[in-house]
Amino acid sequence: MSGRFKFRALGLFVGLLSCWPTNVDAANLSKAAQRGRTILQERCGRCHAIKSVGESPLENAPPMRDIYARFNRRELQAELSEGMVSKHRDMPQIEFSDEDVYAIMSYLYILAVRK
Ligand code: HEC
Repeated sequence: MSGRFKFRALGLFVGLLSCWPTNVDAANLSKAAQRGRTILQERCGRCHAIKSVGESPLENAPPMRDIYARFNRRELQAELSEGMVSKHRDMPQIEFSDEDVYAIMSYLYILAVRK
């Protein structure tokens, strides 16, 4: 019974993601986005630029806005939750929770829209 519920919940989640962000209310989105920005700042900001302007602190790390523009959104989501694979040795391999991935994607989305 609970297995079935989980499956349904997953379906709902996927469904939400596929029509997101249109059906997420603005307050929620900005709250998630704020969290996303904090996460990126803490985990990625020492190498990647995470704002809509400015160079990355680490020369060959692409700014997050460029990563978001270049990647397929689904692919990036998958990479975030499975742990980023990078040729760069120093880059941490972090597996984010669904909630964190959502927060990060929300922030990157806003970044892309504002540009
Ligand atoms: C220690 C520095 C460092 C940190 C911290 C770091 N990165 Fe990177 N990242 C790099 C460098 C350098 C590159 C470019 C070379 C490469 O692709 O390995 C890169 C590339 C990337 C790419 C592009 C990979 C590709 O295939 O083009 C993504 C996506 C990425 N980083 C995401 C992240 C995220 C998300 C975080 C935070 C969780 C993060 N990085 C933290 C240094 C870092």
